[in-house]
Amino acid sequence: MSHINYDELSFDDEDELKFPRPTIQGFDAVVESAISRRGFLGGALAFGSGAAVMGAGVLTGTAAEAQQTSRFAFEQITPQTDGTVHVPNGYRWDVLARWGDPLFSDAPAFDAATGIPTEGSDRVFGENTDGMELFVIGGKELLVVNSEYVNGGINLPAEQNGQPASADDVTRLQNFQGVTVMEVTEGDEGWKVVVDSPYNRRIHHRTPMQIDGPAAGHDLMKTSADPTGTTSLGTFNNCGSGRTPWGTYLTCEENFNSYFGTTSELTLEDATADGFARYGVNTEIDPGRYNYHGFDARFDLSKEPNEPHRAGYIVEIDPSDPTSTPIKRTALGRFKHENAASVVAPDGRVVVYMGDDERGEYMYKWVSRDVYTPGGDTSTLLSEGQLYVAKFNDDMTGTWIALTPEDTGMSAAEIAIFTRIAATQVSATTMDRPEWIAVNPTAIEAYCCLTNNSRRGATNDDGSVRTNAAGEPMVVNAPNPREVNNYGQIVRWRPHHDDHAASTFDWDLYVMAGNPTVYTEGLYAGTANINAGNLFNSPDGMQIDSTGMIWIQTDGNDDNEGDFLGMGNNQMLAGDPVTGEIRRFLTGPNGSEVTGLTWSADRRTMFVGIQHPAAPFPDGEGALPRSSIVTVKRVDNALVG
Ligand code: FEO
Ligand code: CA
Ligand code: CA
Repeated sequence: MSHINYDELSFDDEDELKFPRPTIQGFDAVVESAISRRGFLGGALAFGSGAAVMGAGVLTGTAAEAQQTSRFAFEQITPQTDGTVHVPNGYRWDVLARWGDPLFSDAPAFDAATGIPTEGSDRVFGENTDGMELFVIGGKELLVVNSEYVNGGINLPAEQNGQPASADDVTRLQNFQGVTVMEVTEGDEGWKVVVDSPYNRRIHHRTPMQIDGPAAGHDLMKTSADPTGTTSLGTFNNCGSGRTPWGTYLTCEENFNSYFGTTSELTLEDATADGFARYGVNTEIDPGRYNYHGFDARFDLSKEPNEPHRAGYIVEIDPSDPTSTPIKRTALGRFKHENAASVVAPDGRVVVYMGDDERGEYMYKWVSRDVYTPGGDTSTLLSEGQLYVAKFNDDMTGTWIALTPEDTGMSAAEIAIFTRIAATQVSATTMDRPEWIAVNPTAIEAYCCLTNNSRRGATNDDGSVRTNAAGEPMVVNAPNPREVNNYGQIVRWRPHHDDHAASTFDWDLYVMAGNPTVYTEGLYAGTANINAGNLFNSPDGMQIDSTGMIWIQTDGNDDNEGDFLGMGNNQMLAGDPVTGEIRRFLTGPNGSEVTGLTWSADRRTMFVGIQHPAAPFPDGEGALPRSSIVTVKRVDNALVG
């Protein structure tokens, strides 16, 4: 039995603990680091001279635009350190759904001490709410929500230390994760879930999936249960979300590696071993975070070494048909997918931006081969296209490098399965953990949260430099300019030719989070749009509303001390892309991450996710902490985005 308390361990910390990345030795790496640093400083001067603020003005418009009156409809709230949610004066929040709330009237009741039993655990709202999108189908509002992972410590008997002790325990954990489709409606008493709606559905770790795209049918995708390599069971670690122009939901498989392990010594093919190393699949005999492999042979690498190759994708779900089979779209690559931000290019092709959330991994873009025609057949639009990886230049331009067989030496199927390895072949830019990407509907630009990277530029006692999983040294570079970056930044780019399908772009930093009250100058003070009043760290979730305001959610250090003094609990802020101004809008209960945001059809309600509270949120003293979705409205019921 493991002595690691996984409920206290983030996936980033787990990567560090189990897969400490190699170090680059010697003088060359130190010199390279120094050169990169000088390169950035040149860029930083350009930032600083181009605008009164570094990063909050380079790509923005004219001074006249910057002087326009504030577009914020609220007064900023102060940081909070308590166990509940806060919103500005003139707004209210209410609980819509807690983990374990029933989707069907035959669901088991939630027990305040023990939670939900295995029987019926696939009939309730899943745990650890994350990305979500709202769809209007047949006049009904359907909320489709990811449940990223489980907290074993609060939904298994306490003496088990968060670890399953039986196949029954594993089934329960599997049922609590995945995706929930639920109809919601607003009445006199506020919003509620429509129990027994024919649209309600749970998709979990054993739900049948179709595998589509270049990887489908490849030998690396075949298992004993699926010798064709075209069907699989379950979608895993569903983190951020996306939506297609044709009304389907995209769920994004992030830290899928944590679900696999082995019960005996492994002898692996080279490609498989290399892939496991690059994606952090644990090949040691170890129960790991979930110990599925101890009770469910499908997750045991000694029996099914190809099963991990069938996770780590973008999965398309049609919420309008509760009998539809989710489709794993391997054309969009396999990595630790954060979210999927879609936009239609001027010629009708579909562009999907995606981040790979691990230290020193990359940002990606996919462009469909075929064009989207409203009302036309969309069933294969995500099946074929071109995957690109981002290269950022110090002169604030960038290139999307195509991942082709010619340039990577890999087949189309291998590129789809080992996308990270393909991207390394073409010298993509290592990033500070790309989290959510959002496309601005009011301007031809997009943003990516680079949440933090505590190991960028870090050296060991002997001067060796930390690397990413590919062995590339994580020296500072222009969009990731800070060593030991605990605060994070948001990079913004504008595609050339006003075309998101274009292969080149200009970029800047919309914001570098920091703490100007602790660091009065320098990079750790943050950009000039950070001040004592709006401190935050680790931007993660992000959506841009129909008016073009950027909503930023955080998943960072909430100690509220030292470098993080004055930041308080994790939170949601709003940013004006034109002026750069950022204001704190909402604070979460302590221990929680604020993640997932969407709007009601009438744009008078925001749905906000509160994941993994430590406090007994939302039911108070004596209750289990429960990840929940809250609604936020203006008291006067005016528009909120
Ligand atoms: Fe699940 Fe990268 O956040
Ligand atoms: Ca996230
Ligand atoms: Ca995060």
